[in-house]
Amino acid sequence: MSVHNPEDSRKVTTHRLVEMKRRGEKISMLTSYDYTMAGIVDQAGVDVILVGDSASNVMAGNITTLPITLDQMIYHGKSVVRAVKRALVVVDMPFGTYQSGDIEAVQNAIKIMKITHADALKLEGGVEIIDAVKKILAAGIPIMGHLGLMPQSINKYGTYNVRAKDEDEAEKIIEDAKLLERTGCFALVLEKIPAKLAERVAQEVSIPVIGIGAGGNVDGQVLVLHDMLGMTQGFSPRFLRRYADLNAVMTEAVQHYVSDVKSADFPNSEEQY
Ligand code: KIV
Repeated sequence: MSVHNPEDSRKVTTHRLVEMKRRGEKISMLTSYDYTMAGIVDQAGVDVILVGDSASNVMAGNITTLPITLDQMIYHGKSVVRAVKRALVVVDMPFGTYQSGDIEAVQNAIKIMKITHADALKLEGGVEIIDAVKKILAAGIPIMGHLGLMPQSINKYGTYNVRAKDEDEAEKIIEDAKLLERTGCFALVLEKIPAKLAERVAQEVSIPVIGIGAGGNVDGQVLVLHDMLGMTQGFSPRFLRRYADLNAVMTEAVQHYVSDVKSADFPNSEEQY
């Protein structure tokens, strides 16, 4: 098991991530949405914590990421930042907060940064959102791009299947990745695309490429925390490795508690005042 060096407690910056890519050191990234989990993830040595709009699914039980609001993302972002000492914290801009005009996009971006104190933002899309990307970067806010499967566009795709299997879409991803790099994004997430294509993108841009379902030949990996801990059920894409079965552990603990309350075993004489 590769273990995080506890001596290296310097805050991770966007510049350090680019250096890591240059050195060939892989970048670890996980989602978090609340104070307690973010503290555990940070202390375990993850390099980047993403306050993903997957909070819409994982925390609120929505079917897609579309319903989550700016204020809800700000709430999650603030909770995470309070817990984190080392990792770079990136907050997703939610659907509808950057697609309808660059002025509104930069106002929303500034609001997230001002209230959450996060380090950077993530936006889904390439050429279609480039004016918003430019304006937000011009305000001094670092941006991580997101290409490939973009969950905020699920209603356009109709499925969560692997993207860019055809040449046109693959070419567009390469062009969009280069455009985001040229414009000044510090990193890029590639979601659910063929491993060969992701490898090519990682070779052709100098910024770190973080994959989810994009194979091992990219600069880092990201997973949704609740999925990799085995808390969520009924979601088993090929790319997901489960590192624990917390659903079973938690279910057993809660069942044990219920049984102890019913049998009056809890609390005992030492668990009272
Ligand atoms: O919202 C999210 O969790 C994400 C990751 C899947 C990259 O965008």
